[in-house]
Amino acid sequence: MTKVLFVCLGNICRSPTAEGVFRELVRRRGLQKAIAADSAGTSGWHIDAPPDTRARAEAKRRGISIDDLRSRQVSVGDFERFDYVIAMDDANVVDLEAVCPGPFRNRIHLFTDFAPEGTAAFVPDPYYGGPDGFAQVFDLVTQCAEGLLAHITKERQREDVR
Ligand code: 4NP
Repeated sequence: MTKVLFVCLGNICRSPTAEGVFRELVRRRGLQKAIAADSAGTSGWHIDAPPDTRARAEAKRRGISIDDLRSRQVSVGDFERFDYVIAMDDANVVDLEAVCPGPFRNRIHLFTDFAPEGTAAFVPDPYYGGPDGFAQVFDLVTQCAEGLLAHITKERQREDVR
């Protein structure tokens, strides 16, 4: 099984949205038994909190629910457990690299690197902005999630994993 961990700062806006969108794409392709997703924050500021009300509203508007997700902080064990640790921005990458054991550094990736060339350099933090920010994050996250799923599907075929 391929395991993916989406990471942002608070684990209440971007990474739960990414987890919800990616899960839905996996479900639509019938790959639930092959690919699993989770999310976490580099900070422990919102531990046990549900996603931000605005993120939940945007998800609902687009036909998915992320209401059941709860915030947690990244742990050292995550780098061993997850095949892909997907950061929303460069600050997340720096924070992840600071706690990641050396052998697993290559599991850390920037989410936007899986979107078509030139789409965006990072997924912007919508926390201090208006609702437009959450709609933009949803669109961008969808593009990145499609690219990531295509990448993983290809890798799995190449490696003939189950
Ligand atoms: P996220 O957004 O990293 O996308 O979940 C944030 C959530 C909370 C805070 C910052 C960013 N905060 O400062 O509490």
